[in-house]
Amino acid sequence: MGTSSLFTEDKSAELVVESVGAATDPRLREVLSSLVRHLHAFVKDVQLTNEEWETAIGFLTETGQMCDDVRQEFILLSDVLGVSMLVETINNRSLELATESTVLGPFHMVESPPRESGDRIALDGKGEPCLVTGRVTDEHGTPLANATVDVWQANDEGFYDVQQPDIQPERNLRGLFTTDDNGEFWFRSIVPRYYPVPVDGPVGRLLKATHRHPNRPAHVHFLVTAEGHRPLVTHLFVKDCPYLGSDVVFGVKESLVRDFGEVDDPVRAAEVGFDNPYRAVHFDVTLLAEARAEASR
Ligand code: BEZ
Ligand code: FE
Repeated sequence: MGTSSLFTEDKSAELVVESVGAATDPRLREVLSSLVRHLHAFVKDVQLTNEEWETAIGFLTETGQMCDDVRQEFILLSDVLGVSMLVETINNRSLELATESTVLGPFHMVESPPRESGDRIALDGKGEPCLVTGRVTDEHGTPLANATVDVWQANDEGFYDVQQPDIQPERNLRGLFTTDDNGEFWFRSIVPRYYPVPVDGPVGRLLKATHRHPNRPAHVHFLVTAEGHRPLVTHLFVKDCPYLGSDVVFGVKESLVRDFGEVDDPVRAAEVGFDNPYRAVHFDVTLLAEARAEASR
């Protein structure tokens, strides 16, 4: 038996990489080989102890045990380590033509109810009223009619409807809108509040151990789709909100921050059925044509 293929510290990664069978899918080979090399380099870099290895296995086991239809602790782990945002950013390079994207997050877990332009999505009437208007265009500024604008957000106390099934009406602060011939949409909502990601699991313990707060700055989620265009997953962030500079999942991009400012316009307030003054925000969304999106990869 030749012994050149036996395990040594020096050759550890290469040995594992070489063990991958010849018929392996090329992309799987590429990804796994890189993962193994980085993982071995990491173990050597920190000189991982047996005890630390056991702690890591326990942590990952618990993370897996906390995953089901409504809770995804592994995605949360990816989020707080900045991996979700990195994947998102790499895969949505837009040549600066399209609206920037950000993380989807775990709270788009129910279908948003189809709504008409102008509908109120704050079904319990709580919170500070906010008029949301917007327009969807392609990268040349041509309006996209019939685009779908799916929105969901937390309430003024920082909770999504699915987190408070006994308190908030079902599908509160969610809506699926369709743009008109000018690519425009509008609806009536409230100003959301910042909120913590779930901290009752291993990821929460990790945040605590590393002295990180668990909060996301206040935002409204958008998922915008139009035929022939790359779907856009993004948020609008409320300017001047606490945690804008320290989002626990690193989701903030400057271009997505908006002033949900106060508007003093009694005529417009009467038109939209709000008391004057009221809060308002506008969002111009640019989608990238599929062909262009492919070229930017
Ligand atoms: C959210 O914005 O809904 C979210 C994103 C990542 C982790 C937790 C929540
Ligand atoms: Fe959110």
